[in-house]
Amino acid sequence: MNKVVAVDGPAASGKGTLARRLARHYGFAHLDSGRLYRAVALRVIREDLDPTDEIVCSQAAATLDPAGLDDPALRTEAVGRMASRVSALPGVRRELLDFQRRFATRQPGAVIDGRDIGTVICPDAPAKLFVTATVEERARRRHKELLDQGEAAIYAAVLKDLAERDARDTSRATSPLIRAADAFLLDTTSMDVEAAFAAALAYVESRIGPAPAGAGLETAARDTQ
Ligand code: DC
Repeated sequence: MNKVVAVDGPAASGKGTLARRLARHYGFAHLDSGRLYRAVALRVIREDLDPTDEIVCSQAAATLDPAGLDDPALRTEAVGRMASRVSALPGVRRELLDFQRRFATRQPGAVIDGRDIGTVICPDAPAKLFVTATVEERARRRHKELLDQGEAAIYAAVLKDLAERDARDTSRATSPLIRAADAFLLDTTSMDVEAAFAAALAYVESRIGPAPAGAGLETAARDTQ
């Protein structure tokens, strides 16, 4: 199998940040698979589609324009909530499968983060991380992030929203959020970003070896500090 690093975990676990840094470190391509589901959700919202209609939502997934994956509108909480709903539809997941598997063949390697990368999309990935933290800690981080962005967020509401999202993501019948048996569990509850990255990198290096010299900007940036 290609050098694929699968990074799964619940919402606001920090998996996206870790995946991005790992990709930069190794000079690998990075896919935030949540954006695919968010892009479907955004279409459902904008085109006022029925989020419970599997055929309609699957068509929206089948005709996604990859150019739209950079749309800043994908990041909003409302889109995230809708993504959690439409991602439970098996037809939607089926339509997005090929794109993700093709991405996994990118050279010299790929880092993909999501919910089912190590279990369904790339079960043979040589490196699999399951990144988590308590729901209270994830809510604290998300709340701070929202305040930093100037949004008037209430901690209790963020906590409730995350708990609901966890329940939906873990209880759906198709590709639920679950740790692959062979995934390395990284609980970041009491780790800062640097400690989490160091732990993740140590694991990934043990699986696929160190990044070749000069592979990524991360190494270069660190060496010049
Ligand atoms: O990681 P995120 O918050 O951007 O993901 C948004 C939603 O998309 C999440 O609640 C569940 C869904 N998702 C999924 O079902 N499978 C993935 N691989 C990634 C995201």
